[in-house]
Amino acid sequence: MKLNGKVTDALNFFQGNEPHALTREYGSPLYVYNERIFRKSCRDIKGMCEYPKFFVNYSVKANSNLTLLKIAREEGLRADATSQGEAVAILAAGYQPEEIFYVVNNVSAAELNFAVEKNITVSVDSLSQLETFGQLNPGKRVSVRLNPGIGAGHHEKVVTGGDRTKFGVNEAYIPDIKRILEKYDLKLAGINQHIGSLIMDGSLFLAGVQNLLKIARQFDDLDFIDLGGGFGVPYQKQEGEEPLDIESLGKLLSKFMHEFSESYGKELRFMVEPGRYIPAESGVLLGTVHAIKNNGFVKYAGTDLGFSVFARPMLYDAHHDIEVYRDSDEIMEHPIKMINIVGNMCESGDYIARERYLPALRVGDVLGVLDAGAYGYAMSSQYNYRARPAEVLICEDGTRKLIRRRDTYEDMLANMIF
Ligand SMILES: Cc1ncc(COP(=O)(O)O)c(C=O)c1O
Repeated sequence: MKLNGKVTDALNFFQGNEPHALTREYGSPLYVYNERIFRKSCRDIKGMCEYPKFFVNYSVKANSNLTLLKIAREEGLRADATSQGEAVAILAAGYQPEEIFYVVNNVSAAELNFAVEKNITVSVDSLSQLETFGQLNPGKRVSVRLNPGIGAGHHEKVVTGGDRTKFGVNEAYIPDIKRILEKYDLKLAGINQHIGSLIMDGSLFLAGVQNLLKIARQFDDLDFIDLGGGFGVPYQKQEGEEPLDIESLGKLLSKFMHEFSESYGKELRFMVEPGRYIPAESGVLLGTVHAIKNNGFVKYAGTDLGFSVFARPMLYDAHHDIEVYRDSDEIMEHPIKMINIVGNMCESGDYIARERYLPALRVGDVLGVLDAGAYGYAMSSQYNYRARPAEVLICEDGTRKLIRRRDTYEDMLANMIF
């Protein structure tokens, strides 16, 4: 029985699968994804711009489960990798090298060479890495990540443009970029940017785009321009937070793309690289309440949702709506109480949600952490020697499928040499 399941009910998220039954079958905690919602997000982004050479590279850092990567490809998305490991996962999911864009940050020569050998387009984000690339691969195609001078995002840790970030090359260094390109006979195939994450105000994204397009005119023969990701999702749906107006944003972007191509004299490819937007809303993390206690005036629900399972609240003070599911049909009043929801890690910062007003919780209740599909499993760890949870997909027809099994202690011990 759902005590406050308004959001998942409206989406028909579980499609008849009871949260308690899911945790009984696959263990708690558990990541649950909904295929229908995942596909819809892919389609929303893919359809946002009518510009004919518009491509979406799903930034798989947000969620690199191979089943989800395959579905994204079926929906016509390409992929963006930020590490060799991600590129390996993308290839394993069946993407072709030309469908992958590898946006590196401070990687080894070996990582750069891996991409070149696989025929994957690389974007470097410093003069120094451009120099390394040129030394190793003279005459090849490369992209450079620029910093358009504008940053955005929900937390200082996710702002990746502007004057306080390690990312991108500032416009002032364009003469140096050109010098290195010439020195190694490199072809600048494209330029790219990414200004930050969880942008809910399209005008900031557009301002970054306009700056990048201005900068782009300083290069003669680009094949593509990648405008970055960062498209936000509303994390406070219980409070009625509105989604990003992706349709209006897409219309303006299309207009910019057409205008730019016309004046540049070439219909070049435009790309975006959304991470969060694709899987965030298709994922709910289920966990179980194991203890209730009062410490002084403060009430706590102790759960198995430690930050090894879900790091965003601890890392970014991120808000995630919480739903409560009870394994009983008893009709009774469920008074609303203020409570902190904490995990089981040996760390005092181990919060999932602070000062939430929820139906009075009991041991055995299952909690749903909403919008947990992006940067959820991807950021999980085995800290405190805890096994990472399983991942389950609710397929379009409502059947469920295990798409990653829970770690076993054998897995965890396997790499030890003793
Ligand atoms: C280079 C790059 N591209 C794309 C993304 C995806 O960002 P988001 O999940 O906010 O869309 C990131 C995230 O940090 C990134 O660093």
